[in-house]
Amino acid sequence: MDTHPPTQTSANPHIRQLVASRQEGYALPRAFYHDLALYAHESQSIWRNGWLFAGFTCQIPHPGDFFTLNVEDDTLIILRGDDEQIRAFHNVCTHRGTLLTTEAHGSVRALVCPYHQWTFTRQGELFHCSGMQEGLDKSRLGLHQVQLETCAGLIFLSFAHQPPAFEPARQSLAPLAMPQGFERAKIAWSKRYEVKANWKLIWENNRECYHCNVNHPQYIKSNFDIYEDGQLSQRLQERLAVALERSKNEDDELAISHRQGGLATFPDAEHNIWYAANRTLLTEGYLSESLDGQRVAPLMGTYHDERGGVLRLRTLPNFWCHASCDHAVTTHLLPLDLHRTLVRVTWLVHEEAQVARDYTLEKLLPFWQLTSEQDWGLCERVQRGVNSSAYLPGPLSILREYNLDAFLRWYLFQLSSWK
Ligand code: FES
Ligand code: FE
Repeated sequence: MDTHPPTQTSANPHIRQLVASRQEGYALPRAFYHDLALYAHESQSIWRNGWLFAGFTCQIPHPGDFFTLNVEDDTLIILRGDDEQIRAFHNVCTHRGTLLTTEAHGSVRALVCPYHQWTFTRQGELFHCSGMQEGLDKSRLGLHQVQLETCAGLIFLSFAHQPPAFEPARQSLAPLAMPQGFERAKIAWSKRYEVKANWKLIWENNRECYHCNVNHPQYIKSNFDIYEDGQLSQRLQERLAVALERSKNEDDELAISHRQGGLATFPDAEHNIWYAANRTLLTEGYLSESLDGQRVAPLMGTYHDERGGVLRLRTLPNFWCHASCDHAVTTHLLPLDLHRTLVRVTWLVHEEAQVARDYTLEKLLPFWQLTSEQDWGLCERVQRGVNSSAYLPGPLSILREYNLDAFLRWYLFQLSSWK
């Protein structure tokens, strides 16, 4: 907490005052979880300005396949075109605005509006609108598109006309994420949670493992997160050294990139970096993030053995992933209102893996289902405490909450730099 983000000052005096009210090294004041004007400002400066994780390319493998996504009042169709390109369109007819589809996913030959049957191609162009007058310029009435990028099988979109450059994120994420084989994966299970907590509390919880010892008994058996550098016992240091030595012999793409105790630093508030990928070791005896540490599904992607540890991906403001050699678990956030966040947790396995034959949900789900639900319970308790008139922000641990502090500094910078 001895570093400072680039200085920016919001043009909005209310936001300036709020940002200034946060004492460095402390949690956020109550207003950050209660102020509707701030919530609207977050929508513009963060949720509609950055890149949002939307889903997986493997959800829509064929031309015409689509899924829909709701972000605030907007509904989007993410659709694979005849040219195999994936695009995101507003799910809004360009005649009088009717929603084109109310399905969560499906496959279409064309998008036909149910109201007056205007028909759009799978590339979003209007090609049929019988009953309209001659001379109508159909080329100006295609579906409204939003920016979309794919990276190693992950789909991101942005509402911004000029979003932050995606290329640096791709260069950082793709080399580590490619071996996981998200493009050749399938969704084994997906669970939707409506967490009664502000979205920031969910990230704050994610960015520290100070709470893990007592709250995640299954998680701490498998991961080194709770052991900050300098706190590793002799025995753990030896185990880490042996595992790191072994990992040197592996292909570069599976090399362990996080080589200390504790959580890798993220985000980088000083450089405004919203994406990160690293590969961390699992503890002795753990091949996968499962309750007993054993594999729970066939190897994914190009993994040739079980020693790649865990691939961790994160993109702000709405995505993180823990992926073992045999399965990946992603978490995807979207705010519903000030005090509620929609969280979707998704388990992926190799596309050819068959339930019952190659994996069972009984073994695949519990590790991250337990860990996630333990976290949501904590976040909801924090929200209730923060709601209290007695709440005052307390000091953060420099040793155990440095990433939480980095998240808050990144967040405050986004608020301040939005004009
Ligand atoms: Fe879609 Fe009329 S509103 S065709
Ligand atoms: Fe947790």
